[in-house]
Amino acid sequence: MTVIRSQLIGTGYKLPAKILTNDDLSKMVETNDEWISTRTGIRSRHIAAEKETTSDLSYEAALMAIKNAGIDNREIDFVIVATITPDNTFPATAAKLAKRLGLTPGTPAMDVNAACSGFVYASQIADNMIRLGQVKTALVIGAETLSKITDWTDRNTCVLFGDGAGAAIFRAAEGNGDSLDRGILSTKIYADGSQYEHLCSDGGVSCNQQAGFIHMDGKEVFKVAIPSLVQGVEESLKMAGVDMSEVDWYVPHQANLRIIDSVAKKLEISMDKVVVTVDHHGNTSAASIPLAMAESFAAGKFKKGDLIAISAMGAGFTWGGMVIRI
Ligand code: UT7
Repeated sequence: MTVIRSQLIGTGYKLPAKILTNDDLSKMVETNDEWISTRTGIRSRHIAAEKETTSDLSYEAALMAIKNAGIDNREIDFVIVATITPDNTFPATAAKLAKRLGLTPGTPAMDVNAACSGFVYASQIADNMIRLGQVKTALVIGAETLSKITDWTDRNTCVLFGDGAGAAIFRAAEGNGDSLDRGILSTKIYADGSQYEHLCSDGGVSCNQQAGFIHMDGKEVFKVAIPSLVQGVEESLKMAGVDMSEVDWYVPHQANLRIIDSVAKKLEISMDKVVVTVDHHGNTSAASIPLAMAESFAAGKFKKGDLIAISAMGAGFTWGGMVIRI
């Protein structure tokens, strides 16, 4: 049976020029490289310049993805930006990006706030719109400037986060409806607000008119992250009708190498097949998965036809997974 699939036709990424190492951080708060690298696997992260915004990073990532896809900007008929650090409270960063990219006026543009699961959420929305025939070519971005909501005096959080943007372009293409099709084969998203306060900003428009700073009860998040990331993969694989043994690459949300190691063990996938960028990106929330994917494409790691499993977990809590054959 012929079906419409959302094929991944291009990816791109942008990291700010400034790199902050663990040694740099040890001069700012009471910490050290040994603690950060053994507890998290992070060695460095990129930090946006004072005037560098989420839309700036998104724009550069989008240009690279458009170039890699070999399309004209005006072929994009939907743009969605997953972020918790938008340029402005409103309008959507996606609207600013659409204007800057010179997309056809009228092209729908929206942001989605699902924290670290944002790229999976945004991809599900784009995939559904493509499969319904509402749009043909979707630009899906995960982008963050978390440094701007980081309390640089709090060693519990400031060592963890980084800035960056990743972009993916999905285009409608015909498939046979089986797991050999190229494109998104499944997506699954979840949320549970009962642990809202374990990872949140202490500010917000309607509570105190501030953007606030990131607060995290690391241990609570750690406990939930592992089963959530496992569930995201297992459920999306089941929906796609594929087995873990067929997966060529696993791209997890990049928060902590210990979490990634433990999830890989539970999924019984070798770490050789797991994409790890947390060491040089830190945790970039919604940007982490598209950044890891775009970097892997650029490094020639992924081959046409590879089966990629993805899962994410973050504030909300939100979590989910998706399976793509590239
Ligand atoms: O992106 C969404 C998903 N996010 C996550 O998945 C993050 C999940 N959580 C984690 O990755 C970990 O819980 C952390 C990396 C955040 C923390 O690691 P931990 O092993 O849970 O450490 P901890 O919070 O229990 O802290 C252990 C000790 C504490 O000292 P005491 O109370 O034992 O004396 C902390 O005060 O380490 C201390 N500590 C630090 N020491 C040096 C906390 N931060 C630092 C630091 N440098 N930066």
